Amino acid sequence: MNNKVWGAIKGKNELAVEARGLVKSFGDNYAVNGVDMSVRAGTIYGVLGPNGAGKTTTIRMLATLLRPDAGSAQIFGYDVVKEAAIVRQLIGVTGQYASVDESLSATENLVVFSRLLGLGRQEAKRKAEELLEEFGLSEAAKRPLKNFSGGMRRRLDLAASLIAQPPLIFLDEPTTGLDPRTRAQMWETIRRLVNTGSTVLLTTQYLDEADQLADRIAVIDRGQVVAEGTADELKASVGTSSLHLRVKLPEEVNYARQLVENVLKVRSNISAEAGKITAPMADADRVTDLLLALRDAGVHLSEISVQKPTLDEVFLTITGHGVKEQPPAEAEMSSVMKEARA
Ligand SMILES: Nc1ncnc2c1ncn2[C@@H]1O[C@H](COP(=O)(O)OP(=O)(O)O)[C@@H](O)[C@H]1O
Ligand SMILES: [Mg+2]
Repeated sequence: MNNKVWGAIKGKNELAVEARGLVKSFGDNYAVNGVDMSVRAGTIYGVLGPNGAGKTTTIRMLATLLRPDAGSAQIFGYDVVKEAAIVRQLIGVTGQYASVDESLSATENLVVFSRLLGLGRQEAKRKAEELLEEFGLSEAAKRPLKNFSGGMRRRLDLAASLIAQPPLIFLDEPTTGLDPRTRAQMWETIRRLVNTGSTVLLTTQYLDEADQLADRIAVIDRGQVVAEGTADELKASVGTSSLHLRVKLPEEVNYARQLVENVLKVRSNISAEAGKITAPMADADRVTDLLLALRDAGVHLSEISVQKPTLDEVFLTITGHGVKEQPPAEAEMSSVMKEARA
């Protein structure tokens, strides 16, 4: 670990990231439209949102790769525009390291990178082997990078960012398109990074990922933070439990929804699944009234259940629309997606 870099943040600021009113537009498309964000040092912060929400653009501004049109951001108290050179020493962005040289092997790439960071030859070699082992890349260690799959590259990327282990690590959709085993391994590594002192800001489209990993979550939609808090706080915002109903005749769903809202006095959602309604349930006793009202109105149900709200429902409640499932950007089609479609 680079002591000079870690020295620069000692006692400097307990916020690893502080962004106020960040804006970035491309033509007349506001990719990021007034984002505020505070990330405490030593935590995992999740930025959750669907494709095109503005996650990558936000990260690129925080990582000094893109200049904001408006607003400001500090990394450990250093301004991303005025003190960009210092900021760059304090951060790691996956995606920029592993492709040192496509014709070099995975081991060689990691060794080169370690040497660039000032490690001795023996230490660099030992570190490279250790990391390749940890990421299940030992077998492929001698192969040139150009023969690596998307998932293998991703793992090598994260391995490379572990060599330097900067105080703040940006991970842009670190597990999109990865198979479940590699995904679990990635989660472990992310936790390890934070346990050994780093701060991690990760973006994800996966609700369960944010739920599992992040200390705090910002839900981002169309360039704006639409909700912020711990996973529990976000879940609580839709009620302690939620009611799931399915009407027998899908064409009655709007009528049934009206009844749900009138009786429970809440905002409800119609799910993409035919005839399905979900609603936050603050008062369990009201459900009896609802069922009676539905019966009186002649609306028949095919399904009723009470569940703990998922982050998906939180998203639905906050934004009024669900998280559209998008295929992974990666050329590599993961087994997760294959399973989901099977
Ligand atoms: N370099 C760019 N040029 C033009 N439009 C862009 C560029 N980068 C992103 N966008 C647009 O900005 C919006 C947000 O994109 P992005 O930050 O990549 O979202 P996310 O990472 O959440 O998927 C999208 O509408 C996208 O098409
Ligand atoms: Mg993105």
